[in-house]
Amino acid sequence: MLSVVFFLVLSFPFYSTKTSYAGNNPSGSTMKVSHICLWVTLTFSGLVNAFDPITTTVVVGVGAALGRTIFNYFKETCDPKWIAYNATGLKTDLDNKLFGQHIASRIILKAVNGFMSNPNPKKPLVLSLHGWTGTGKNFVSQLIAESVYAEGMHSRFVHVFTSTLHFPHAEHMATYKSQLQQWVRGNVTNCERSMFIFDEMDKMHPGLIDSIKPYLDYYEKLDGVSYRKSIFIFLSNAGGDGIIQTALEFWKAGKNREEIELKDLETTLSLSVFNNNKSGFFRTSLIDKNLVDFFVPFLPLEYQHVVQCAMAEMKARNLEPNPDVADQVARDLVYFPKSERVFSVKGCKTIESKLDFYT
Ligand SMILES: Nc1ncnc2c1ncn2[C@@H]1O[C@H](COP(=O)(O)OP(=O)(O)OP(=O)(O)O)[C@@H](O)[C@H]1O
Ligand SMILES: *[C@@H]1O[C@H](CO)[C@@H](O)[C@H](O)[C@H]1NC(C)=O
Ligand SMILES: *[C@@H]1O[C@H](CO)[C@@H](O)[C@H](O)[C@H]1NC(C)=O
Ligand SMILES: *[C@@H]1O[C@H](CO)[C@@H](O)[C@H](O)[C@H]1NC(C)=O
Ligand SMILES: [Mg+2]
Repeated sequence: MLSVVFFLVLSFPFYSTKTSYAGNNPSGSTMKVSHICLWVTLTFSGLVNAFDPITTTVVVGVGAALGRTIFNYFKETCDPKWIAYNATGLKTDLDNKLFGQHIASRIILKAVNGFMSNPNPKKPLVLSLHGWTGTGKNFVSQLIAESVYAEGMHSRFVHVFTSTLHFPHAEHMATYKSQLQQWVRGNVTNCERSMFIFDEMDKMHPGLIDSIKPYLDYYEKLDGVSYRKSIFIFLSNAGGDGIIQTALEFWKAGKNREEIELKDLETTLSLSVFNNNKSGFFRTSLIDKNLVDFFVPFLPLEYQHVVQCAMAEMKARNLEPNPDVADQVARDLVYFPKSERVFSVKGCKTIESKLDFYT
């Protein structure tokens, strides 16, 4: 009887950690923990029978405390053990893993460094990433998450909202608005170093994003919650056409891609996004009131970048990177505009599956 209670007390926390680890290392720590747990229980249940009630209570109490300590050790918590920004890590990742995005890479590093090294930011960090499909927007958000959270995208404090998944029906707007507010407030109350990624902003109903405007503003606290240490990232294809236009002009003028500067793009980008009723930012006060800190343009990728992506993918699979295979993969993709064939239509997307054909 006692050993049953003991088992429950000790094992409960471990079972509840399982969910938070599910995506990351399903077999690793949780399995081992359950084994230890079983072992401890079996050993102690023998001991428990041999002692008087007082000793038993003490043993059970110590066991429970021990259980909780181990539990806290494995469970991701909102403290520096799990959330510690690695500036070097982000820089190396951006330099080595992100191809052909010199502007984005520079802005992101500056923005995140500045924000994370400031102990008292005046507002949350708000980034809006724009560009053609497959140019690395989700990939960069992942790199940022990995530099801040030990668990990266699997962290309990990183939240991804996808418009088509979380907010699909225009007629439920009112519900979505209050739901979104509640989620953001609840999650920031849990941990002020939370990160929110809004994917497919261009498919979001215009107006929905306005519901979180107060959280992005310069308030000390709202209803006792401070949002100033959170990070908000918006991803969209909106404004991609303008970026391609500029990139193509540079290419036609025979100029180096690296000569494109932020100022060539940023103003047109924010304007076109603001005036586009299919951008998710249509006439939103987020832009009006300058609450988006950075509009980050992602340039369309060229043949050489696709080759780099293919080489990186082979490396990631522990294959010997083979330039001939990478070249083959890159040459089989479709490029636009039709006459010049400069930019990859799908960026670096589908490289992963394409590689299977050639290796
Ligand atoms: N610039 C890049 N450098 C390195 N890898 C890249 C780059 N762009 C894309 N990739 C690779 O291609 C995959 C798909 O890119 P990603 O999902 O980031 O595209 P996206 O910009 O979010 O596109 P979409 O607008 O369609 O959502 C990434 O997982 C990454 O492996
Ligand atoms: C930060 O990142 C660098 C490069 O990836 C790595 O070598 C280093 O161990 C990391 N530091 C911490 C504290 O995780
Ligand atoms: C945090 O956000 C998630 C969505 O990512 C939501 O399901 C959850 O209820 C939120 N938590 C709180 C406490 O509001
Ligand atoms: C969006 O704007 C386009 C022109 O820019 C217009 O044709 C279309 O009717 C608008 N759609 C809505 C829903 O306002
Ligand atoms: Mg994406």
